[in-house]
Amino acid sequence: MDVLVTISLPEHLLARIKVEHSVTCHGGDSPIPRRELESLIDGFDGILCTITDRIDASLLEKATRLKVVANYGVGYDNIDVRACSAKGVLVTNTPDVLTDATADLTMALVLSVARRVAEGDSIVREGKFRAWSPFGFLGTEVSGKTLGIIGLGRIGKAVAERANGFKMKVLYYKQSRLNSEEERAFKVSYAGMQELLKESDFVSLHVPLTQGTYHLMGAEQFSLMKRTSYLINTSRGPVVDEEALVHALETGVIAGAGLDVYEKEPHVHSELIRMKNVVLLPHLGSATIETRTKMAERAVSNLLAALRNERPKDCLNWEAVYGVSG
Ligand code: DGY
Repeated sequence: MDVLVTISLPEHLLARIKVEHSVTCHGGDSPIPRRELESLIDGFDGILCTITDRIDASLLEKATRLKVVANYGVGYDNIDVRACSAKGVLVTNTPDVLTDATADLTMALVLSVARRVAEGDSIVREGKFRAWSPFGFLGTEVSGKTLGIIGLGRIGKAVAERANGFKMKVLYYKQSRLNSEEERAFKVSYAGMQELLKESDFVSLHVPLTQGTYHLMGAEQFSLMKRTSYLINTSRGPVVDEEALVHALETGVIAGAGLDVYEKEPHVHSELIRMKNVVLLPHLGSATIETRTKMAERAVSNLLAALRNERPKDCLNWEAVYGVSG
C-alpha cells in the first residue's frame, strides 16, 4: 500500500514502513503546505502526520483510498475524528510516551516564572549582572504554594507527582472527580473551578482542546485568580483567550505566565513578547530525544497495525468504524 509521511522520521523507522509499503516523505521540519497535502492525499492508503497537519472533512473528501491517519502527537484537535469515522478511516495518536517529558516541562515553567530564570539569563547575557544583592531579583517561593491543575489526566497526574516533590499543595479540577484512594495516592484535593482559581498560586492547564475547552480561561477566570498568581499552559493555545490573558497581565490581574503553546501558533502575541513576567517556549513540551523517538515508534506501529487490518494500540475510533464487536 502507499503511505504518506509528513514529518522527518528516523531512517530505521522509515525502513520499518518500507518493508510492507511504499513510502512518500514530505521530509523537512516545516509542515507540509496545505495545498500540497490536498493535491497528494488521494494517492495514499495511510498517512503518518502530526499536530500541524489539519485532517478535516474537506481533506477527507479528496482521500478516497485512506484507511488510517496515524497522528504523531497525543493531542488530536488537528483531526476531525468524527469525519474520519464516517469515512471508515481509523485515527491513532501517541499517548503515554510523552507524559513525563511534558510534566517536566510544566514544572520547568513553574520554576522559571517563579524564580525569574529566563529574565535572569537575559540579564547575564546582556552584561547587566553587576553584583549579588540581598533584595535584587527576588522571585516567589514555590515550596508551600498551591498548584491548581485543570484537567487531571495522565499529564496532570504526572505534574501533581512532581509538584508534591516540590512541597506544593495540589488542587485539581476535572469533570469526573477521582475516587478518594486515587486522590490520596496523588496527594491532590478536588476543588470546583472557581475555588481552584481563587486558591491557587499557579494554575496549570492539562485539558485537550475541544469545543468545550476553547477559551476555558478568559477574562472572567483571570479575574478570579490571585494578583500574585501565574498561569502555566503546556496544553493547547486556544484553551486560553490570549487577548484576555494579555489584558490580565498588562493590568496586573495576574502576576505572570509560562506558556509553551499559543492561540495562533506559531504566531505569538506581540505584547507577550514584550513582557518580562512571561516565559515563552516554542511548543516543546514533548521535545526530548527519548520521547520524540518513542512517539515516532508508536505512530509507526499504529500505522502498520491499521494497514494490516489489526486494531492499533492507540486507536481513537475503532468502535465508530467497526462497531462495538469489531
Ligand atoms: C502533542 O503530542 O499533542 C504535543 O502537543 C506535541 O508533542
